[in-house]
Amino acid sequence: LHSLPLVGRGKVRENYAVGADRLLMVASDRISAFDVVMGEPIPGKGALLTRMALFWFDKLGHVVPNHLTGDAPESVVAPDEVAQVRGRAMLVKRLRPLPIEAVVRGYLAGSGWKEYQDSGTVCGVPLPPGLQLASKLPQPIFTPATKAEMGEHDENISFERAAEIIGAERAAEVRDVALRLYTEAAAYALTKGIVIADTKFEFGLDEHGTLTLMDEVLTPDSSRFWPADSVREGENPPSFDKQYLRDWLEQAQVDGRPWPKRAPAPPLPD
Ligand code: C5P
Repeated sequence: LHSLPLVGRGKVRENYAVGADRLLMVASDRISAFDVVMGEPIPGKGALLTRMALFWFDKLGHVVPNHLTGDAPESVVAPDEVAQVRGRAMLVKRLRPLPIEAVVRGYLAGSGWKEYQDSGTVCGVPLPPGLQLASKLPQPIFTPATKAEMGEHDENISFERAAEIIGAERAAEVRDVALRLYTEAAAYALTKGIVIADTKFEFGLDEHGTLTLMDEVLTPDSSRFWPADSVREGENPPSFDKQYLRDWLEQAQVDGRPWPKRAPAPPLPD
């Protein structure tokens, strides 16, 4: 876009400033995992993920305020740019992002499964012995992580560490809200035959210090979605998300094939 100042270019999204207090977040069709941005975009991905995030913001709006402003993204760009943002952008409040990721897990997978095998705990949360890959947890757990800079990896941290970073009261608020969001979304998804194994929320503070849900929520980039009828303990379930890309990259490492270089972000489609 040339009509707005670019303020941040993430692995998958670009943020433009709209005045002093709003952002236009544009979701590209790029896909990334482990800090690798693949060279080949997935046509329609940005629009699809945006629709899903908007769906969940609406559905979960009664749990916590979110960053949407209610105005149409098309209204803030030049007429010749409307097609570039239609369906793939959100016009949002500019917030002060909290420097932790609020991960909630209802099932054991990914780094949660790895940590459990090593220590019987995930982010310091003790779990019963004998759990397997894809086991349902006795109850959903809050497992925060640090937000890594580009080129580094996120690190799982304990609740106590999160409390040191953002304050004990705020950490408890984030934990309670994240667990409520997950529990409600997971119950809804299950009525559609989908297990939400785990997911990551991001929060920021508005000008009054109110905790506000931001970024994208409950999309296949930020969650593990499993077909409920195919979940078997001890087995890797098929995944309706980007797990196949993580697996492919991990296998490449095992085989000694070089990872694709972290590609410079390709331009958005016209
Ligand atoms: O890899 P891990 O098991 O820690 O991921 C837990 C959940 O958090 C997954 O649903 C994953 O998609 C999400 N996540 C994310 N962004 C990160 C780290 C994890 O969306 N940077």
